[in-house]
Amino acid sequence: MRIVKSVRAMQSLSRRWRRSGARIGFVPTMGSLHDGHLSLVRRARAGVGRPGRVVVSLYVNPTQFGPQEDLSKYPRSLRRDTQLCRAAGVDVLFIPADREMFPRKSPAPFSTWVTEEALSRPMEGGSRPGHFRGVTTVVAKLFNIVGPDLAVFGAKDWQQAAVVRRMTRDLNFPVKVIIAPTRREADGLAMSSRNAYLKGPLRNQAIILSRALAGARHVIRSSGKSVDAKRLKNVLRRLVEHQPDARVDYIEFFDPETLAPLRKAGRGAHMAMAVFIGRTRLIDNGKLG
Ligand code: PAJ
Repeated sequence: MRIVKSVRAMQSLSRRWRRSGARIGFVPTMGSLHDGHLSLVRRARAGVGRPGRVVVSLYVNPTQFGPQEDLSKYPRSLRRDTQLCRAAGVDVLFIPADREMFPRKSPAPFSTWVTEEALSRPMEGGSRPGHFRGVTTVVAKLFNIVGPDLAVFGAKDWQQAAVVRRMTRDLNFPVKVIIAPTRREADGLAMSSRNAYLKGPLRNQAIILSRALAGARHVIRSSGKSVDAKRLKNVLRRLVEHQPDARVDYIEFFDPETLAPLRKAGRGAHMAMAVFIGRTRLIDNGKLG
């Protein structure tokens, strides 16, 4: 496995690969890797085959964090991440420095942004202003640097995957965007780098997100018809906030393609939620009907 740090080196390597006919699969991450990330790597490998190449990027993108968010404390474990990628058969780990990605000094400070203006508005977009602008900009840059044929994103961040897929189509990136299923711990908690923040009793309380999702799914499947979203939201909010350290940021029912909020939740509907467990903000989502 090669470790590449400069944009130029990454671009020339991928140009060489493409010329030789190798397909390139790409998994962008912010590191602190877990089995959710590694499942995306396996999906990328399955997509490009053996002569193909798999690139993982590891970059904690400052532009997608709000001023009150956890950028400086975001968990980092470079040595372990490197070992995991090597063991997973990754061909290149791309680890750019901040100054490579977002030069700040004149004469060339960074000043071009990519914004998606529909799917990025609700849910995470409402709670984290500017977040998706940071995501779409860095993913567009990474696509231009890595030049992948396919890129794999996790369903865990459903809205992010939908926004990236729209951006890819709207801006004609020649990249196939694949969405891979959410990996969970044995008790249902969706794997996340941020789970490392959950100390003591908080870890156990975090199960409430997947429980709420399962509860909503049960209500919809057993009733056999659409249910009033507002009422179901209130029930779920109470269920979640029954945990002493849990506070709901949002619960939303939506169409999985358009992300439009639904007033009636039934077959085909999706649910997403963001919940603070103590100071840690967790998200989860899934199909209901
Ligand atoms: P990060 O949170 O590191 O996630 C990298 C990728 O792993 C994303 O596509 C995310 O959806 C996926 N992922 C995370 N947890 C998962 C799980 N439990 N199961 C399956 N996939 C999971 O998302 C980002 O980084 C950044 O926003 C990024 C796209 C890299 C842009 O900076």
